[in-house]
Amino acid sequence: MRQADATDIPLLAYHRAAMFRDMGKLAPDQADALTRATASYLRTALPGGEYLGWVAQETAAPAAVIGGAGAQIRPILPRPRTGGELELGPEAIILNVYVEVAWRRRGVGEALMRAVLDALVQSGIRRVVLHAAEDGRRLYERLGFVASNEMRLE
Ligand SMILES: CC(C)(COP(=O)(O)OP(=O)(O)OC[C@H]1O[C@@H](n2cnc3c(N)ncnc32)[C@H](O)[C@@H]1OP(=O)(O)O)[C@@H](O)C(=O)NCCC(=O)NCCS
Repeated sequence: MRQADATDIPLLAYHRAAMFRDMGKLAPDQADALTRATASYLRTALPGGEYLGWVAQETAAPAAVIGGAGAQIRPILPRPRTGGELELGPEAIILNVYVEVAWRRRGVGEALMRAVLDALVQSGIRRVVLHAAEDGRRLYERLGFVASNEMRLE
């Protein structure tokens, strides 16, 4: 596992498109546009610290990247937290969790998630949210995530 830098932006953008593809939510003719728009966002957000990314890569040469996961750091309005203190934010939303098919079900996804969560804890972030796809739900539950009261209007 290593933290992604600007040279990884094309890979991170590919991971986002591949994730939506494997979730059955991306029409083939939208893949290029989604990848380009994601790379464009990351060119600002990654150097600026709004987006933090991690990649998993093989230890043996050619050390191909086999997956990735990221977190977007975003402000929240102050809110009460169970236990008394106020939650002042920012919060992190986990995004772009993706492992290449040939490497799935070997713990790579969990290792990526642990790398992201460890870094978030180190930087003092106490509130972490995500939207779970079917493939990831059990992994997130294992890490302690619980379903929330979020609603959506499209
Ligand atoms: C979701 C995703 C990232 C999980 O990646 P992964 O590397 O397979 O994750 P893990 O290996 O850590 O865990 C997956 C399962 O493999 C099991 N596993 C882990 N290591 C294992 C091993 N050595 N042998 C057998 N099973 C193992 C885990 O227990 C887990 O099982 P469960 O889902 O029944 O609880 C991957 O399936 C993926 O990229 N899916 C498509 C994109 C997607 O949906 N992303 C999530 C968006 S929210």
